[in-house]
Parts: sequence; structure tokens; C-alpha cells
Amino acid sequence: MIGVAPNALFVCGVEMTNPVVRPTDLPTWKTLEAHAAQMKPQHLKDLFAADDARFDKFSLSLPSFLFDYSKNLITDETKAALLALAKESDVEGWRSKMFAADHINATEDRAVMHVALRDKSSKPIIIDGADARPAIDAELERMRKLSEKLRSGAWTGYTGKTITDIVSIGIGGSNLGPLMVCEALKDYSDKRFNMHFVSNIDGVQISDVLSGLNPETTLFVISSKTFTTQETMTNARTAEQWFMKAAGDRAAIAKHFVAVSTNRKLVTAFGIAEENIFDMWDWVGGRFSLWSAIGLPIVLFLGYALFDELLQGAYEMDQHFQTAPLAENAPVMLALVGIWNRNFLGYPAHALLPYDQCLHRFPAYMQQAEMESNGKSVNWAGEEITYGSVPLVWGEVGINGQHAFYQMLHQGTDIIPADFIGSIAPTVKVEGHHDALMANFFAQTQALMLGIDADQVRRELSAKGVSAERIEEIVEHKVHRGNRPTNTFLLNKVDARSLGALIALYEHKIFVQGIIWRIHSFDQWGVELGKVLAAGIQPELDTGKATNPKHDASTRNLIDFYKRMKGA
Ligand code: F6P
Repeated sequence: MIGVAPNALFVCGVEMTNPVVRPTDLPTWKTLEAHAAQMKPQHLKDLFAADDARFDKFSLSLPSFLFDYSKNLITDETKAALLALAKESDVEGWRSKMFAADHINATEDRAVMHVALRDKSSKPIIIDGADARPAIDAELERMRKLSEKLRSGAWTGYTGKTITDIVSIGIGGSNLGPLMVCEALKDYSDKRFNMHFVSNIDGVQISDVLSGLNPETTLFVISSKTFTTQETMTNARTAEQWFMKAAGDRAAIAKHFVAVSTNRKLVTAFGIAEENIFDMWDWVGGRFSLWSAIGLPIVLFLGYALFDELLQGAYEMDQHFQTAPLAENAPVMLALVGIWNRNFLGYPAHALLPYDQCLHRFPAYMQQAEMESNGKSVNWAGEEITYGSVPLVWGEVGINGQHAFYQMLHQGTDIIPADFIGSIAPTVKVEGHHDALMANFFAQTQALMLGIDADQVRRELSAKGVSAERIEEIVEHKVHRGNRPTNTFLLNKVDARSLGALIALYEHKIFVQGIIWRIHSFDQWGVELGKVLAAGIQPELDTGKATNPKHDASTRNLIDFYKRMKGA
């Protein structure tokens, strides 16, 4: 790791001597704690009954979607205090620093400039003293050209056949974004190519993909910011061997392998032609990189015009985030309501529940974005924090979840706030489906909010002719206490522009929460330790080699058992 003296604080590369002000020491934090104690006994249905203007006050209408956060246990007073917390935390100042390319990723001493990749203004973008715009534009242009060559059939494989299949190899941020977007927008694709994504080092995935492919008509996109990630490198080598077995001649590689990386040296050493390397930069974090050349699979699958619309949607959200007053700023309000639920009401998790099949990979994508960013337990000064950072973020397509885990959301002992994401127009119209889906969408947030009390249950059962004795046996089991907070996003439609805006909205939510929690959102040291240990363990798994006696007894015995059994 970097040479940081204990408790030193680096901001923009400058060591600060002042201690980090802990959010819990801010006057507003204490106000919010006291206010939460008053709010906890209240019920959302009473707040709605008492205030006709609640929806108008606690919702925002943006070009691509409506954002309703009125079904949270908040009042005007809560909102005012949360906004004061944002002010006291200098969210606006830090937002300016991010857009000005200050090194707010202090532990890696880097700017955080994924916003530059979708900046549609014509202004220079100064990062580390130089204008990054020409390089960004050049890379976008190279992506567009490759896509056109492939799509027109001008680019052919080593036997002269046109490319039919694209295999994207990458993991984490070099996989989830392109995969999620290609799935979300696949109905807009002309299906010129069959897309395949390989991330897992488990050979099952790559062998399954390769088994259906012809090397003469397959193009591999190897995506890795570092070009050192074990999973990606192992899969890339397997793909290369599979390809070479058929092609024989290494010269053929240039027609079938392209790469996206910051590390040209390693890509070249792998054998990929210079002209097939797409650049990205260290100021783009992996989990924020789909806007860069990491989005190449999106460009190839959907065509450049749709990728450009995705960038446009994100740019519009960036502008909204920079200019809207905090009280009308969707990422800020989403972040603040999240802070309220996590830190003041004490809810441990947050569910993402898309009611649009297109968005079925959205929860997985956002899990990385939120939890790799804000899953930290020390503040900027390296001091252990005494308040919760990111909750457990998880989710699934909502309608499927209804028949799986919603029981727990409605009646479990933990309250799990949730984001419901649906669309007014479906991407594919099938008579009788969309309204049925959306009826569930509206009903679920209503049910989670209102619940049903014992008297209502008794009345309903009695109206159905159930005996008084039987009613008393089951009444408590049928009670839903409600008061379970949700946000609702109602998109006009899942299209490239609204998806771009939605992703950028969550990116900025993550940023705002990280600032309020005083944690470094843009590093990911927590994924390193396991990687290092795995590298040490892998050679020991050879049955001819001794297991390291220094391992703890559990790990040592598990490894020995594995070796005994695999040799048997
Ligand atoms: O999981 C850790 C991580 O570094 C992520 O942040 C990143 O998205 C992923 O691995 C892939 O890294 P790379 O693009 O360097 O292969």
C-alpha cells in the first residue's frame, strides 16, 4: 500500500494535519439522531394521511424518469436536516473537486474522472495538467471505426469470413458494466453479432462458450484495466490456445484479438497487435469504466450511435448533479435518504428491485459499484469509523423476487429499504403483460408502506365467512406491519439515454455518501488480501507439493483434504 503515516490525511496529494471531522461530531448528525428517535415510532401511512402534498414534496421529475422518495419515513424536518448534513459535509465543495480532477482518490493518488468520458461540452478537460479531451475523443473514434468495420463486414477473420461472435473476457468492472448494458438494451441491437461474456476462472464458463463457436468467425475482446487480473489472464490464454489450435499461424491473432487496458506493455507481451489495443486511463475506476473503451462490447453489439446516447444520458445526469439545488438534486436526495435509513433508522441492507426484465443484471452491477466503493471501515485519516458505511446491497428482478424473498421484505424481523425501478413503456410490447407487471410494481411499494393490521385482517377474514375461532388462530400471522421504506423510479422506457442517466445517478449517490461518511470511495484495497493469499496457495494445490505448515489449522486441513480427494 502507499506510505501513509498513521492518521495522516492526504487530500489531493497534500498531507493535512487537521484531524478529519467525524460526521458523528457534526451538529446536524446529533440533530438527526434526536429526530430519528421521534420518527421511529411513527408510521408512514399516518404521514401520508396527514400531508396531502407529500408526493409533490418528496418526488423529482427528471427528463428520463420520475423519482419518488415519499415512501420513506421522513418529514420536512428530516429533509431539512439531511440537507444541512450535506452542506456541513461540504458535498458541493467535494463535487467541485471531483469535476476539477483533484486527486480525491487520495490513497491511490488519482483523479476520479469517469465524468470526463461522457462530457459532451467542447471545453478542455484538464487532468494532471493536460487536456484529456483529444485522447478521449480519439479512443471513442477508434471504437466507432472498429465497430463499423466489423458491422459492415470489412473486417474479416483469418480465413476471410465475417465475424459472427464476440467474446468479451474480463471481470468485475471490466465485465459487469458491458454485460449489464448489453442485456438491458439488447432489443435495440440489430443482433449482427452473438455476444458472449466470460468472467469466471471456473473453466465451465469458457468451455461452454467456446464449444459453440468457430475460431474463423470469433473476435475476442480482452478487457482488463491492469492486464494482470488472474481470472481474465487465465481465460484469455485459454481463448488464445483454442484459437491457435485452429489457426496455427500467430499472424492470425491480429484479426481475432483486441484488448482494452491501461497497460500497453503487458497487452503487447501477450501478443495482441498494437493497433488492436484500446486505451483507458488510471483516472477511470474499474467499476466506473463502462463509459471508456471498456464499453467496446457495447459499441460492437449495439452500434456506436446507441453508445453515444448512453453517454448523453449520463452527461445530462452529470449536469443535473452539478447544477440542481441540493433539495432538487436526485443523486443527492437518493444519497441522503440512504444515509437516513442506514445511519439514523439503522437498516442494515438495501434492495434493488427492477421491474423490467431488461435490467436483470442491474443489481449485480450496482452491487460492485456501491459495495466496492463504500464498503470501508476507516475514514480519510485511517481511523476506525463508529457509524455504518454501505449497507448490504442486493437484489433481483422484482417480480421473481415476489415469489422468493419478498416474504422477508414484508414480514421479516429486519426492515430492508428498497429501490423499485420500472418503466412506463415496455421495450417489447406483448399484449396483456406490461400493465400486469406494473400493477405488481405499484402494489408492492404500497403494501410495504401500508401493511395490514389485525383489525383489517379480522374484517377481511370475517367477510369471507371464516369462523371467529379460526380467525384468532391465524390473525397475527397475517398481519403486515408495513412502514417499510421504498424509493420508486419510473422510467419513460429503458433506452440508452435513460439507462445512462440511471447509472450516473447511482454513481453520484455513491460519491455523496462516501463524502458524508468521510471514506475513500474510489480505492478497493479490500479485494487485495484474498488475491495475494490465493497466489500463494495455488502452487500448494499440486499434489506433489507440501502444504504450508504455517496455515491455520482449518485452511491447512481443507487444502490437505482437497489434495487427498483430488488424487483419489
Ligand atoms: O475486484 C477488484 C478489481 O480491481 C475491480 O475493481 C475491477 O473492476 C476488477 O478487479 C477487474 O480489474 P481489471 O480490469 O484490472 O482486470
